[in-house]
Amino acid sequence: MTESLRTEQTDGVLIVTVDQAGDAINKMDRSLGAELERVLGQVDTDRTIRALVIASGKKDIFIAGADIEQFLEFKTELDAEAASKFGQRLLNLLEKSRVPVVAAIHGACLGGGLELALACTWRICTDHPKTVLALPEVQLGLIPGMGGTQRLPRLVGVSNALDMILTGRNVRAKKALQMGLVDEMLHPDILVETAAQRARDLADKKVKPRRKGARGFMSALLDKNPFGRSVVYNRARAGVIDKTAGHYPAPLAAIDVVRNGLSNGMTSGLEEEARVFGRMALTPESKQLVFLFFATTSLKKDMGVAVDPAPEPLPVRKLAVLGAGFMGAGIASIAVQQGTVVRLKDTDLARVGKGLSSVRGVIKERLDRKQITRPQYDDMMTLAGGTIDYSGFGNANLLIEAVFEDLEVKHAVLQAVEDKLPVDAVIASNTSTLPIRSVAAGLKRPDRVLGMHFFSPVHKMPLLEVIVTPETAPQATVTAVSYGRKLGKTVIVVNDGPGFYTTRILTAYMNEAGRLLEQGVPVDAIDSALVGFGFPVGPLTLMDEVGLDVGGKVGKTMFESFGERMAPADGVRRVVESGRLGRKGRSGFYLYDATGRKGDVDPSIYPILLGADRAASRSQIDPISATEIVDRCVMAMVNEAVRCLEEGILRSPRDGDIGAVFGLGWPPFRGGPFRYVDALGVDEVLSRLDTFDGRFPVRFKPAGMLIEMSRARTRFYPVEGRPV
Ligand code: NAI
Repeated sequence: MTESLRTEQTDGVLIVTVDQAGDAINKMDRSLGAELERVLGQVDTDRTIRALVIASGKKDIFIAGADIEQFLEFKTELDAEAASKFGQRLLNLLEKSRVPVVAAIHGACLGGGLELALACTWRICTDHPKTVLALPEVQLGLIPGMGGTQRLPRLVGVSNALDMILTGRNVRAKKALQMGLVDEMLHPDILVETAAQRARDLADKKVKPRRKGARGFMSALLDKNPFGRSVVYNRARAGVIDKTAGHYPAPLAAIDVVRNGLSNGMTSGLEEEARVFGRMALTPESKQLVFLFFATTSLKKDMGVAVDPAPEPLPVRKLAVLGAGFMGAGIASIAVQQGTVVRLKDTDLARVGKGLSSVRGVIKERLDRKQITRPQYDDMMTLAGGTIDYSGFGNANLLIEAVFEDLEVKHAVLQAVEDKLPVDAVIASNTSTLPIRSVAAGLKRPDRVLGMHFFSPVHKMPLLEVIVTPETAPQATVTAVSYGRKLGKTVIVVNDGPGFYTTRILTAYMNEAGRLLEQGVPVDAIDSALVGFGFPVGPLTLMDEVGLDVGGKVGKTMFESFGERMAPADGVRRVVESGRLGRKGRSGFYLYDATGRKGDVDPSIYPILLGADRAASRSQIDPISATEIVDRCVMAMVNEAVRCLEEGILRSPRDGDIGAVFGLGWPPFRGGPFRYVDALGVDEVLSRLDTFDGRFPVRFKPAGMLIEMSRARTRFYPVEGRPV
């Protein structure tokens, strides 16, 4: 018995159980590598060993991947290349082992874990839903570095391999079997026993290793000839550029490494893989993605309260939702998927019915995609119930209010509902802008009240912003946080204020886009500049998506709260007042067809924005560069984010970065607004803000914290790559 492995020999088969001490998961790290090497040495000399099985001692995890902590130690490309070569050498030894090796896979088999399995002679996996196989390295800005770029395409064909390597997607057991990634699939109860038998069969030559290569006529055809392969590579490259706008170097580099390896042979392919792994590990993109990985990991352990130990969260068995509209139904749809009973209330039956049918729509989509079974679908739907009174609210543990964004309406509904709920129920508002303190005014139990700000569409957007007031009880906070996590959300906890964190920084950004419009910059020039920076869509497309009425209301509240700094552009105010609603009304900054598909910019927007005379002479307006467009919008957002930290709305830069990336689509490869300041340097940020402040007084006045940091020569993140 050692730190990472247990071995047991039965009837000529050495069963190696990976079970790293003191950890819930297995990770490929140096100590595991060294111990495996020792076992392989033993196999070489001990002739009583006829075959090997590699299994895991962890629950639902085979090997979850490389130890990412070790990546932080890479100071140069050569350090990272050396780590890759260390892993490659080990897996080469495994592949060339004197005896056959069977990987017995149950649970997550990811990254280095899958690369280890690929070097085995035979792979068996369980048919359990927790069994997934993937090479997620690109999600950290890397490429597989332990032979994955070479062994995977040889085993399952170039097309399947690129799909896995370029997306990092999870492959489930059945699909893995179909594509030849594993040789057998069976029930977890008989995994190790069958693996041992198969190892013996291989040793006795009763079973031969399967033929490698793409399955299916077309795939095999494309794979076999160089022309077919180049079609696959070109298609993959075009797909990556289309999806990432070329912002991520790793997937493109991975295509080249796969291609070189298949043309020039395994040895040269492995050398190239290690070299490129080294190069990718030191890119700024990878550093930011690794930071986000650590930031989300540390966030998962943070209950969002200052008291230690944090109180136990209340179980949420029943959820009451007020308002069966767009957001209320969205929240209900994810709650029933987690087994929560939901009561959805609206003012009339027609609206309740509409809400329930949107819930059904979301779940039906999962059924159609075979992500859930028919009985699961039926179970989920029986959990969703509707009402127009408060029946069934008496035993709800959590209430989420998602009625119109109107303080009077919110006051009225919350005051009416408070007495219908159990005394310890948590009362949450899904307002996107209104301070929770004002929403809670007049309630008898302000300690149970907080904000749970979901993003639309609720079932797709990963962030939940929990907003607490000075009165919110820690137990209410931890209940909201833990339930939010149960719903699959990344949860940040922020303090109360108008627009909290996300809406506040988004408003600063959107307002600046509005100012640019007012200066005569074309709608599409603004959008494409910010997509060029890495946002998934530009601010005006986003405004159309969110709804101009909604955006207008938010803008007004923020202006009333913060004054001149958050003044919306007059031109945009006129567009909102013109009654255009954005995509839902098929009329906004862009044209939409009857199905809601976006077309070109609507030219009739310019006279509203600029007035007829200026619109007519638009071509004479001095163009503004994409760099300035980006800088103005992004600096406005970044400066506001720093103010949120300075005022204590945010608890840490980490939460601010996570909130921007997961809630607002801030480009992950740029880490987040605070990481961006660290990357540019505080002095550079200040100099840009000062320049804009000179041209556009008030709104670019630098946050005091930035000036302080420049004086003290500090950064937001003292240690590279760590969230604190
Ligand atoms: P919506 O207009 O689709 O739905 C509001 C629903 O509340 C309607 O069905 C309405 O009949 C119902 N309602 C009004 N008064 C009621 C009452 N007294 N009792 C029960 N139901 C009542 O609006 P949406 O978009 O779902 O917004 C709801 C809340 O979520 C707002 O506070 C909004 O700011 C917030 N929010 C909206 C986001 C969005 O993208 N739409 C994103 C994040 C938050």
